[in-house]
Amino acid sequence: MPEVASVLFGREDIRRRVEELGRTIAGDYVGREPVLVSVLKGGAIFLADLMRAIDLPLETHLMAISRYGGAAESLGRVRILLDLDVDLTDRHVLLVEDIVDTGLTSRYLLSVLRARGPASVELCSLLDKSVRRIVPLSPRYVGFDCPDRFVLGYGLDLQERYRNLPDILQVDDLVALRADPDLLRPRLTGAAA
Ligand code: IMP
Ligand code: MG
Repeated sequence: MPEVASVLFGREDIRRRVEELGRTIAGDYVGREPVLVSVLKGGAIFLADLMRAIDLPLETHLMAISRYGGAAESLGRVRILLDLDVDLTDRHVLLVEDIVDTGLTSRYLLSVLRARGPASVELCSLLDKSVRRIVPLSPRYVGFDCPDRFVLGYGLDLQERYRNLPDILQVDDLVALRADPDLLRPRLTGAAA
């Protein structure tokens, strides 16, 4: 039986790239104390590693959102389930996302953050599925450019599963995996390899 998924970015590639991003961000924000804002749940895994790669004083805060279906989805409107409890006035804000796909979610979140009077707002995304973009938006910091495939692991989920995979997998047969989400169970057994 053909594999339904294959490793796109392995844990070592991710570790190295996150360290590079951390160094770049630390260089750019030297002398400032950035506020890293991430979005539950997927973004929190990336945030946890990225923040430890930035050797500057910084703050981290989390938001939780849910996406609307239907017409609202096409506008990228999201419902804020958990809002920040920090005043962003005159702060340097860095939004930390797991993946930017169409760009709708990030565009909406950036507009919410910009409305709160920060000194600056930038976007850092581990993955950039740029070929899928429907709104013009390019993150200031990108870990990897991502092919037009569904990806999983390192925080990214399929119906809440597989966020705990240490590698990022690309799904080659999404129909089969949706029909039987257990198909990738064997990948979890080797997770600590
Ligand atoms: P956007 O609004 O289309 O940019 O979608 C962003 C959100 O969609 C991300 O934060 C993810 O939660 C989800 N998403 C987009 N592509 C993928 C994928 O390939 N795997 C898992 N989640 C994805
Ligand atoms: Mg998701």
